[in-house]
Amino acid sequence: MDLFDVSSEEARTLLTRSIELKSGGAEPRRTPPLLGRSLGLVFEKPSLRTRVSFEAAFARLGGSSIFLRGKDVGIGVRESVADFARVLSQYVDALAVRTFAHATIEELVRHASIPIVNALSDDAHPCQAMADVMTILEFKDRLEGVKLCFVGDGNNVARSLAVASALLGVEFVLACPPGYDFPPAFKTRFADRFPGVPLRSSNDPREAAADADAVYTDVWASMGQESEADHRREIFAPYQVDEKLMARALPDALFLHCLPAHRGEEVASGVLDGPQSRVIPQAANRMYFQMALLEWLVGGANRE
Ligand code: CP
Ligand code: NVA
Repeated sequence: MDLFDVSSEEARTLLTRSIELKSGGAEPRRTPPLLGRSLGLVFEKPSLRTRVSFEAAFARLGGSSIFLRGKDVGIGVRESVADFARVLSQYVDALAVRTFAHATIEELVRHASIPIVNALSDDAHPCQAMADVMTILEFKDRLEGVKLCFVGDGNNVARSLAVASALLGVEFVLACPPGYDFPPAFKTRFADRFPGVPLRSSNDPREAAADADAVYTDVWASMGQESEADHRREIFAPYQVDEKLMARALPDALFLHCLPAHRGEEVASGVLDGPQSRVIPQAANRMYFQMALLEWLVGGANRE
């Protein structure tokens, strides 16, 4: 799933269905929609939420999952990405992939005959972003015109959030240290896909967070950037989301974080564990959004 290829209407339909599923489902089903279907999961990086929420989502829809550790299957190492995609397409009905290079996902998409879902790459985390906007909708009752401030690195999570925001009318702004803004290739793709939608960023977190409806942060060093962690801790220190920064946002602003979090680094404990934090329902929403997505991608013909 590439969020750049999703239409605003499709994004809204998926969110509506996610919320229906969370509230107990719209209509009773005689048979689970994905009975007898299989989901493959290939993870080259660690995971708690994504792995479990995908497996739980597929199980709730009546299907079963097969988890493959990246090292064991060696995509592009033990065999070519194309062979991997063509073989696996015969065994499972969809594949969720967590990988480093985003190009691996694109190559899988080219060669597979089943839906490939990005479960996080170095460039994007689309299911996270859709669960995040679902969380804003759940607690704010609207998305159009809501201001979302992401404080931290212009990373995979920030990029997908910027795209999801543009699809749904959320006003997104990134607050990052100089040099950690969105990369030029992303900016170009964003401008081509959303002409007229500004991709705002600032080096001043206080200015960016002013009057925000939601403040979001993520780790300063993502998976694969462990060697940069010490350097990044110094650079990003002024970008911690603490009580003073939250006070710049609206009084009823939500605090969001994709988790896992590093208390005392990108977020102060008092904020993460405080009354404005919605990180636990946000994590729950991963499962409901992915149920809606998998039902749409795999189960369309099966719906009763
Ligand atoms: N938020 C998220 O994707 O968490 P995991 O890395 O634990 O899957
Ligand atoms: N930006 C983080 C997100 C983890 C869910 C990473 O890629 O490690």
